[in-house]
Amino acid sequence: MKIPFNKPYLSGKELRYIEEAVRLGKISGNGEFTQRCQSFFEKRYGFKKCLLTNSCTDALEMAALLCDIQAGDEVIMPSFTFVSTANAFVLRGAKIVFVDSRSDHPNMDESLIEELISPKTKAIIVVHYAGVACEMDKIMSIATKHKLWVIEDAAQGIESYYKEKALGSMGHLSCFSFHETKNIQSGEGGLLAINDPALIRRAEILWEKGTDRAAFFRGEVAKYGWVDIGSSFLPSELTAAFLWAQLEELESIQSRRMSTWEAYFQLFSEGSTANEILSSSYQKILIEASKNIEFTWQCREHKGNAHMFYLLFKQESDRTKFSGRMKSAGVLSVFHYQSLHKSDYAKKCFPNQYDRQLPNSDRYSDCLLRLPLFYELPEVSAEY
Ligand SMILES: Cc1ncc(COP(=O)(O)O)c(C=O)c1O
Repeated sequence: MKIPFNKPYLSGKELRYIEEAVRLGKISGNGEFTQRCQSFFEKRYGFKKCLLTNSCTDALEMAALLCDIQAGDEVIMPSFTFVSTANAFVLRGAKIVFVDSRSDHPNMDESLIEELISPKTKAIIVVHYAGVACEMDKIMSIATKHKLWVIEDAAQGIESYYKEKALGSMGHLSCFSFHETKNIQSGEGGLLAINDPALIRRAEILWEKGTDRAAFFRGEVAKYGWVDIGSSFLPSELTAAFLWAQLEELESIQSRRMSTWEAYFQLFSEGSTANEILSSSYQKILIEASKNIEFTWQCREHKGNAHMFYLLFKQESDRTKFSGRMKSAGVLSVFHYQSLHKSDYAKKCFPNQYDRQLPNSDRYSDCLLRLPLFYELPEVSAEY
């Protein structure tokens, strides 16, 4: 493939920091590099407390435990999301209630949330798709009114803002991903941000396999032992060292991604003069393809993080035609989530959700196509 969909970013310092972690002799979790990464997030985004995890999936599972989700509780989330958003709560026995996406953006339609709330509802899980913020003011006020937890699935949301507030700083708990497809990556990796101070102590215990080891190492207790349930959520120092090498370059990564995003935006904008720089054969292809594309541009309204550049086609067959043509030109473009309410698992376990009509979610499943966007993608390749 001439142009892959993604190429994980490497700053060049990853191996040096991993070597340093090995030399320091504390290779398991919660050492020097873990502390450095966690305080970076706390200071930069104002999160009350951060804990590195092995993945965003881990962080979501911790969030479900911290909210004490029990069998039969209901949890509201978009259908257009990754399976982990749902699985973390299904593992606790929750019933998932799916909400449709907005007509102008894959994010959840906040105007549909309230009618889905029942006496069993415990939490709303928001997913900031493509690093673009959900309507948090409205969602937080619904949650306050009904006394619900808000968990931000900000897997794609690093360095993105909603009205000057960092994504991940508004919900009681927030979850980030550092999977190799994300702007900042450590192969696999994640982060739980805890914004409700009342949850911090228990979060540390769950993270440390159900023990009060973190308090012990701070000298707060004389010995540590089994005090709660928990699991092995904390990554080793090797992962944290890798991540630190990326965090040091956060600003340069973001500025490169933003300019590639901007190049795409200009090329596909109606009436743009930018596409005059394209050769006439490319112009023809672009004009022809543009007839079948509808746009949903949110990044200009909110402060997006250039995690993704996607096109929304009018019909699935247009998308198939376009991606096939891209593939034959050596460019890999890929679709994204398939509506969870229409999944085999939902059919089996949540048949009343399977039967619901969530047309916007289905439309994004069928018609959205992501174009290559990664640090090393030069603007000239975006034009190609
Ligand atoms: C919205 C969303 N939540 C959660 C995840 C899971 O992230 P991870 O692979 O770090 O577990 C993903 C994966 O991309 C995602 O897109």
